[in-house]
Amino acid sequence: MEDRFAFLTEWYDPTAALLRRYQLFYYPKDSSVEMFDVKNQRIFLRRTKYDDIHQEDLFVGNRVNVFSRQLNLIEYGDQYTANKLGSKKERTLALIKPDVVTKIGDVLELIYSSNLIVTKAKMTKLTWSQAADFYVEHQSKPFFNNLVQFVSSGPVVAMEVMGDEAVSLWRGLLGPADSAVARREAPQSARAQFGTDGIKNVGHGSDSLAAAARELEFFFPSTIGHGPSNTAIYSDCTCCIIKPHAMSEGLTGKILNSISAAGFEISALEMFSVDRANAEEFYEVYKGVVSEYTSMVTELCSGPCMVLEIHGTDTPQTFRDFCGPADPEIARHLRPTTLRALYGKDRVKNAVHCTDLPEDGVLEVQYFFKILDG
Ligand code: CDP
Ligand code: MG
Repeated sequence: MEDRFAFLTEWYDPTAALLRRYQLFYYPKDSSVEMFDVKNQRIFLRRTKYDDIHQEDLFVGNRVNVFSRQLNLIEYGDQYTANKLGSKKERTLALIKPDVVTKIGDVLELIYSSNLIVTKAKMTKLTWSQAADFYVEHQSKPFFNNLVQFVSSGPVVAMEVMGDEAVSLWRGLLGPADSAVARREAPQSARAQFGTDGIKNVGHGSDSLAAAARELEFFFPSTIGHGPSNTAIYSDCTCCIIKPHAMSEGLTGKILNSISAAGFEISALEMFSVDRANAEEFYEVYKGVVSEYTSMVTELCSGPCMVLEIHGTDTPQTFRDFCGPADPEIARHLRPTTLRALYGKDRVKNAVHCTDLPEDGVLEVQYFFKILDG
C-alpha cells in the first residue's frame, strides 16, 4: 500500500477569528497533500500535488505552510505516522554565548547541516541574577562566578532547536566544553572552530530532555510571564526581515553571515510568526501603491520569519543599498553582490524586507520588538 502520513493540524482563520482543525495527509510518493475539515466532516482540499512541503518538516510541534495557510501540526493522526516520523523528535535549547553572537550565521549553518531546524530564536541580554538562575545547577562549582559573569556580559541568542535526537546532536555539534580540547578531539565542532577557551566556548546545549524543558521554559515561557526581553534599542536603526521563503530554503545562516561580513551590527534578532492581520498592518503603506501588496502579505505570513534591528548611523540608507533593488533579476544585473541578488527569487520572494524611508526605521523595529513581542 502507498505510504501516507496523517496529522491533526490547527489553522487560525483570521477572518472568522477561529482556530480551525484539519486532518492533513501527505503522500510522499508524489508529494501530494489532502486536507479534511474535522468539524464539518468533509474534504477541504482534494489530493493535490504540492512541492513546497517536505517530509523532514512533518512532525508534531512544527508548522507547515499549505497553500498560504500556516498549519500547526498538533498530533500524529495515526500510529504509523507517529512511529515513522515522530519517535525521535526532540526539542532542545541552543544558547549562543556572547563570544560568538556576531558569528550566529555560522552556527546556524552548522545546525541546518545536521537536519535540525530552529523553531524559536531571540537575542537577549541576561542580568547577573538571570544568568545565575539559568545556571543554578552549577551554583557550587568553582567556575560559577566566572561563568555567570561571562554569560551576562553581552547579548546571547536563545534558540529552540528541533529534530531527531536534537539534545545530543546539538551537544555533539558544540563539542567538548573546553575549546582547546575540542580542537584536539572534535576539530569540526563549533567550539573547535569558533571557541576561545573553557569559558568563551560558543554555546550552551541542554544535557537532557528534562533540562531542555526547563531551559526552554526559561527563555520562551509557555504560560505566565514573558522571559528575558529582546535587545532592541530603537535609535539609529533600520528593520530587516528575513522572509519566510528564505528561512524555509535554509538561507538564514548565509544571509546573517553576509550582513555581518558587510560590517552591519545586528542589535536585535527574533523569530516571529506573523498572522495575516499583522502582515497587512505592517505593509499598510504599500497598499494601493505596490502591485505586489497582496502577495507580499501572503509571503510574510506564510511561515516564521526572522526580524533584525540593524544599528548604526545612516543604516536605513546604507542597509537598503546593501539589500539591493527589490527585483532580484534586476539586482543580479546591476548590483550582483546585494542580498536580493544573492538570495532572492522574484519581487515577492526577494529574501529580505528592509525599511524604505529612514524615518520609518524606528517605527518598523518597534512594530515587531515592542508591539508583536509585547
Ligand atoms: O556547557 P557544557 O554542558 O558542555 O559544560 P558544563 O560542564 O555543563 O559547564 C557549563 C559551562 O561552564 C561550560 O560551558 C563552560 O563555559 C563553564 N565551565 C568552566 O568554565 N570551567 C569548567 N571547568 C567547566 C565548565
Ligand atoms: Mg551543561
